[in-house]
Amino acid sequence: MTTLAHYLNNHASDPALSDVITTITDVGKTISQLLRKGALADILGEAGNQNVQGEDQKKLDVLANDLLLDALSKNAHCAGVASEELDNATPANADGSLLVLFDPLDGSSNIDINMAVGTIFSILPYQRQGQNSENSDFLQAGNQQLAAGYLLYGTSTMLALTVADNVVMFSLDPDSGDYILINDNVQIDADTSEYAVNSSNYRYWLAPMQQYIDELIAGEVGVRGRDFNTRWVAAMVGDVHRILCRGGLFTYPFDTKYAHKAGKLRLMYEANPMSLLIERAGGGATDAVNRILDIEPTDIHQRVPVVLGSKNEVNYVRDLHLQHADK
Ligand code: F6P
Ligand code: MN
Repeated sequence: MTTLAHYLNNHASDPALSDVITTITDVGKTISQLLRKGALADILGEAGNQNVQGEDQKKLDVLANDLLLDALSKNAHCAGVASEELDNATPANADGSLLVLFDPLDGSSNIDINMAVGTIFSILPYQRQGQNSENSDFLQAGNQQLAAGYLLYGTSTMLALTVADNVVMFSLDPDSGDYILINDNVQIDADTSEYAVNSSNYRYWLAPMQQYIDELIAGEVGVRGRDFNTRWVAAMVGDVHRILCRGGLFTYPFDTKYAHKAGKLRLMYEANPMSLLIERAGGGATDAVNRILDIEPTDIHQRVPVVLGSKNEVNYVRDLHLQHADK
């Protein structure tokens, strides 16, 4: 049996990275316990504030954010923290070598209905050791990430992680409190017949995305010649987990619903860490034209269209967009 501690000892390139990942995953155990108590821990419902994106915060969003922020601020290796829930990045320990970014509670509309939620994290190198970190220090492309992962609080709590060139999965043993390795090389099939999208936004999509979903719905009587099935967890962490387990395509495409948003998902807290996991498991991740991991961020809270999962399917979507751009 391989525990997370044992795995990190053998596979993380740098003890600082192991230490920061341990801090995050320890907080994950606390969040997991709070979720298990649910209504009894008085964690459900609205906190009465809005986050920087103008969305209502749930009590547990705030709690998860505060727990991570507090624990990481005390970690000597952590030079700063950026969270989906905070307007600005928070400097931590100037001598630290790592920056941590997180979505403390992804899929938070699922909390009150007892469905899956998660914590997504991304770790970047810190270039200005000795000085206090600022928002601009975090503006690094996803291809610079040293590690990324998520905790999925589902019927059991799981951790997906990449610290080397592969993706591994752990399951939290509620008895011992240890994360136990259950898959040491997660691989995604290149082909799939399963897709995830919130199709209520159909009328706001660009023509190639509408065409793509039309083709999938036409199934075996259309150009694809086979039937496709839909799954939508409404928590990215759940959809990505399913894709790591059995393949599939996930998209939250560009839409014109809100003029100032180029999509719903956040590049730094959601798209980048998930894209690193998906690519290292053999899948693809694009904004429909460009590789997500090569996007140079301009704002820590920027949003990006996301198409990720089984490689051939992701390439199919990208090709439709490129053909459309040629016309
Ligand atoms: O964090 C944003 C998010 O909750 C994702 O986890 C999820 O994939 C998506 O939004 C769900 O969006 P919608 O409410 O439009 O289905
Ligand atoms: Mn989220």
